Amino acid sequence: MYYPDELVEEVRMKNDIVDVVSGYVKIQKKGSSYFGLCPFHNEKSPSFSVSPSRQMYYCFGCGAGGNVFTFVMEYENYSFPEAIKHLAQKAGVSLPEAEYTEEMKKKESKRSRLLEVNKEAAKYFFYQLRSDKGKDGYGYLRKRQLSDETIKKFGLGFANVSSDDLVKYLKSKGYEDKLIQEAGLASFDEKYGMHDKFWNRVMFPIQDINHRVIGFGGRVMGDAKPKYLNSPETMVFDKSRNLYGLNYARTSRKNNIILCEGYMDVIAMHQAGFTQAVASLGTAFTEGQASLLKRYTEEVILAYDSDGAGTTAALRAIGILKEAGLTGKVLNLEPYKDPDEFIKNKGTEAFEERIKAAENSFFFEIRMLQRDYDLNDPESKTKFYREIAKKLCGFSEEVERDNYIQAVADKYAIGVQNLKKLVLSYAAQTGFAKPAERPKSGIQKKNTPEESRKKSQRLLLTWLVEEPPLYHKIKKYISTDDFTEDLYKKVAERLFADLEQNTMNPAAIISLFSDEEEQREAASVFNTKLNELTTRGEQEKAFHDIVLAVKRNSYEYFSQQLGSDVSALNQVIAGKKALEELSKTHISLD
Ligand code: CTP
Ligand code: MN
Repeated sequence: MYYPDELVEEVRMKNDIVDVVSGYVKIQKKGSSYFGLCPFHNEKSPSFSVSPSRQMYYCFGCGAGGNVFTFVMEYENYSFPEAIKHLAQKAGVSLPEAEYTEEMKKKESKRSRLLEVNKEAAKYFFYQLRSDKGKDGYGYLRKRQLSDETIKKFGLGFANVSSDDLVKYLKSKGYEDKLIQEAGLASFDEKYGMHDKFWNRVMFPIQDINHRVIGFGGRVMGDAKPKYLNSPETMVFDKSRNLYGLNYARTSRKNNIILCEGYMDVIAMHQAGFTQAVASLGTAFTEGQASLLKRYTEEVILAYDSDGAGTTAALRAIGILKEAGLTGKVLNLEPYKDPDEFIKNKGTEAFEERIKAAENSFFFEIRMLQRDYDLNDPESKTKFYREIAKKLCGFSEEVERDNYIQAVADKYAIGVQNLKKLVLSYAAQTGFAKPAERPKSGIQKKNTPEESRKKSQRLLLTWLVEEPPLYHKIKKYISTDDFTEDLYKKVAERLFADLEQNTMNPAAIISLFSDEEEQREAASVFNTKLNELTTRGEQEKAFHDIVLAVKRNSYEYFSQQLGSDVSALNQVIAGKKALEELSKTHISLD
């Protein structure tokens, strides 16, 4: 363990999960639990629940779940020790130096070493920008009208023209070749040895929401290709789940977030006071980024380039925003290409005006659609109206659909009733939009023998959680050794010890695991709803079958080990006896 169990438990108990989650997600009390929109996947109706009595959260939509540590790990992108530190500080608990086991040390240190080496590289680039060798870079940024303050705020730097100076510098600081390569800062070549990835570029450190440098974008000086070069994905750099500038935008306190394409655009907007600007990372906008934005805002204003590629990207992004339940609007930057150029030429106030006038994304889509039709030609015009009607079927809620029908009819001088009829006739063929499909729960897995073994062990634990008195009825047949899955065995050990004392502490059991995935899986034990079986008789049979399955699996498991492992023999003999007895015994649920 990183910290002593009791201390971890103290930190957990001093951070009520409802309080902590409320700091991030709007949740409302409903019965004994709280509900809200899940921050970990896109949804429009709340399936995210927080249980004050269990001190756990669970999403029925995506299967995310755990205790207060899991939540902070998942939301803030923290490791387990980081989450503990964060919550300890919040609750005023002081922590000693952490104790690491070898394995944990390795994993934890890999992440933090990557973050460290990135930070060191950022510092190096930052320093280079101000040195003699960085003159071109500094001159370039000043030419693009960035103030020293802005350059500092975004930690901009320069990768000079020497091809291995960064590698040398990092090695002098004690970082090994392998790590430098894994961070995507250099590559190895038979001919040239280790050489820097970034060369003759101004450097944009990419930070996560907690201001940690997770990667870089570099813009070349002059016209060489590629114009922008980005770090590859690494253990700490997931391009689909981070956004450039979000570390500042998340606290901008504006009622929207502006999404654009370029690093320079983000920076130019922030410098002009539009601190709510973010950009994707040299890749197309993703669902993951949409659900990230959903945590901070309800309205996203698209400020993509006004060229063809920008328009196509905007249309794509609109769909993704809609799926995420976000309101999308589109900024008109004409006659300029991007926000950076617009602000330079027209100034801050004009940009503010454009934000106010941002077009509803549906009208934007229709307007783009219109470009393919000739409204002076009746046939083409009819086709255009049909396409509009088809699009209107995308609104599944009647009130909203009617409002849009009305608005579109006004705008394009179509008779409201005619348009309505057209929409209904399409809906008759294809139906209105279905509610967004939910991602499959992490709990539903394939039907392999291993899975069914795991499943019976998980279900048995769930039964005991739901009906604790059953523990005393089965304990003479089932021991923690019958859980052949490491994770469930660990859960069972703690749960059985608790149940022996007639208590239960699900949230503490989850803290036994330091890995987010393991925490989630452990949490699923407490969140799997047992099938709604109608009669007590059916329930008894189901429970009996599960106990038997667990016992049989463990019997078979230990039988296979016979010969190589003497201690398994006792298990097998005891197991056989218990199995025979169990199959004849009736376990009453009452
Ligand atoms: N981009 C990229 N690779 C490229 C070109 C662009 O990753 N070869 C990404 C970068 O994140 C860039 C964004 O797409 O910031 C927008 O590209 P572009 O419109 O070409 O960049 P600008 O920001 O306008 O670049 P600049 O103003 O520096 O010319
Ligand atoms: Mn530009």
